[in-house]
Amino acid sequence: MRILAIETSCDETSAAIVEDGMRVRSNVIASSRKAFERSGGVIPEIAARRQIESILPVLDLALADAGMTPRDLDAVAVTKGPGLLGSLLAGTTTARAVAYIWKKPLIGVHHTLGHLSSTWLDAKDPPVFPLLALSVSGGHTDLWLRHAHLRGTLLGQTRDDAAGEAFDKGASMLGLPYPGGPSVAKAAENGKRDAFAFPHPLHKEKTCDFSYSGLKTALKYIIRDTPGAPVADLAASYEHALCDHLCTRVEHALTLHPEIREVHVVGGVSANTHLRWMLGQRLRNVTVRTPATLAYCTDNAAMIAAAAEFLVQEKGEAAYEPFATGASLPLAEAIGR
Ligand code: KG4
Ligand code: ZN
Repeated sequence: MRILAIETSCDETSAAIVEDGMRVRSNVIASSRKAFERSGGVIPEIAARRQIESILPVLDLALADAGMTPRDLDAVAVTKGPGLLGSLLAGTTTARAVAYIWKKPLIGVHHTLGHLSSTWLDAKDPPVFPLLALSVSGGHTDLWLRHAHLRGTLLGQTRDDAAGEAFDKGASMLGLPYPGGPSVAKAAENGKRDAFAFPHPLHKEKTCDFSYSGLKTALKYIIRDTPGAPVADLAASYEHALCDHLCTRVEHALTLHPEIREVHVVGGVSANTHLRWMLGQRLRNVTVRTPATLAYCTDNAAMIAAAAEFLVQEKGEAAYEPFATGASLPLAEAIGR
């Protein structure tokens, strides 16, 4: 199938055309993040207004980049949630309108199922189930045992902040711009990883859950108690602690499921170079997959088109059922047990 997808859950406006869930024909992303560099986070009203301004030019560009017209498409897909409601509605309203005008079926996709599908985009050899998937972004930190696209078990999730949120809040404490992930990573480049000692969250518990609020609080006290400490050292030690916690939980999950041969890391935080390096060092006898390009790590419509294809493959006609747009939508209800 050839699916045109729209993704507008936060501050990115994206439209993409993907064939067979893997071959990306176009993936256009406009971002309003510059507007939020100084506010330390997204202002929903402004993000929604930017979505409305960008969505039609982005849609036109996605068709032009692919050299296609609406006639070439088999379906339209859109992120139905979760996310910022105003931003989401800009996407779902546009998708409903173009699907009606172009007479195409419409598929509503859960944002996180999109991230989980991102490792299929441009993959030379398709991933093989069962696999372990670490989904890490600004809104969630989840560890899934996946048997199929729509069949998985949630092994663990964060009990408080998400990993991306810990990067964003840490950056704000260090006086670095939003989004925090890339700015902490940049500041950490010339810092010492062992300059400051951070706690090891939940280290006494045999669990696949995560907890990030303690690391964030530890950073707050280190900054308070070490005036004049180099930002590079603070950023490097903090980034190391955030990544170490992710690696430790993945290692624990692999001891529970030694049959697993593939570990996927998806979502905005999967763009992190230090995390990729650490996973490569510590995970032996498994293939670690991250999305093929950095554009597929953070929010993008190509991953939504891929997820829509897999929904049709595994759900058939039910993939086209009417859906509501929702700011909070549990993924476990859709794909897990
Ligand atoms: O998946 P995403 O684009 O949006 C959500 O669904 O939340 O993820 C955004 C998150 C932000 O918290 C951002 O700071 C983080 O991903 N992020 C990174 C990096 N790039 C983005 N975190 C660490 N290192 C990066 N290079
Ligand atoms: Zn996302």
